[in-house]
Amino acid sequence: MTDDRIPVSREGERPIGVFDSGVGGLTVVKELFGQLPGENIIYFGDTARVPYGIKSDRTVVKFSLQNSRFLAQFKIKLLIVACNTASAVGLDILRKEFPFPVLGVIEPGARAALRLAKNKRIGVIGTEATVSSRAYVKLIEGINPSARIFSQACSLFVPLVEEGWLEGEITAAVVRKYLSSLKKKSIDSLILGCTHYPLLKPLLQKEMEGIVLIDSAREVVAEAKKVLGDRGMLGAGNRTPYRRYYVSDMPARFVRVGKMFLGEDITPVEQVEIEKY
Ligand code: DGL
Repeated sequence: MTDDRIPVSREGERPIGVFDSGVGGLTVVKELFGQLPGENIIYFGDTARVPYGIKSDRTVVKFSLQNSRFLAQFKIKLLIVACNTASAVGLDILRKEFPFPVLGVIEPGARAALRLAKNKRIGVIGTEATVSSRAYVKLIEGINPSARIFSQACSLFVPLVEEGWLEGEITAAVVRKYLSSLKKKSIDSLILGCTHYPLLKPLLQKEMEGIVLIDSAREVVAEAKKVLGDRGMLGAGNRTPYRRYYVSDMPARFVRVGKMFLGEDITPVEQVEIEKY
């Protein structure tokens, strides 16, 4: 299960905390199941206050601090900010505030794009807030100033995914419309800069034939594995790990929509009063 060249300690038994604005961060949890199956996981989905993607930086930072304080109670060994919007605007503040390592989805996605894009012309799609933060652009240009980044906000993708409209004519038409300008930019990789977009991969790939789609969820979990391995803090793989899910509203909807993201039943799910934190 875990890489046996990497030492495993009791510290490793502490859970990994993951938060997102709602259900979308389960794409990261799914990756954790695949890449780090021995880990205990505590997930918080801010279903009362979703979407973050159209809110101000100040509000998203406030929410991110509250979500992290809630997760910190569980003595987490690492925090993954699964939400691109929160990663784009709040990561530095969270890193200053908490003693555990904090990983966002932007840096691993940006690095993967630079690794995989041969012509260094990279597309980024995300929510309005993520795109207008220019977080991916600043990071990629910071690492490689000769890279060219082309961004596109795709605001309708989140509601379409949450409705379960992952295929079909209407979603295909929306995908086509949003990607039409990116298609003219000769990009050879496209960062899926939002938790929900990996579920649209088949349609996106069909529209962007031959272009490498970069899934930030996969990349951040690879980074988490490295960070924990370097610190000797990987969880042991020889027991059944626990997974707990908390939401700020509508647990029943979270269970229903979340099953689509995770591909399995989600239990237990508890509702918390997040404004208290
Ligand atoms: N989780 C958000 C993101 O990755 C998408 C949903 C929202 O707008 O809150 O940007």
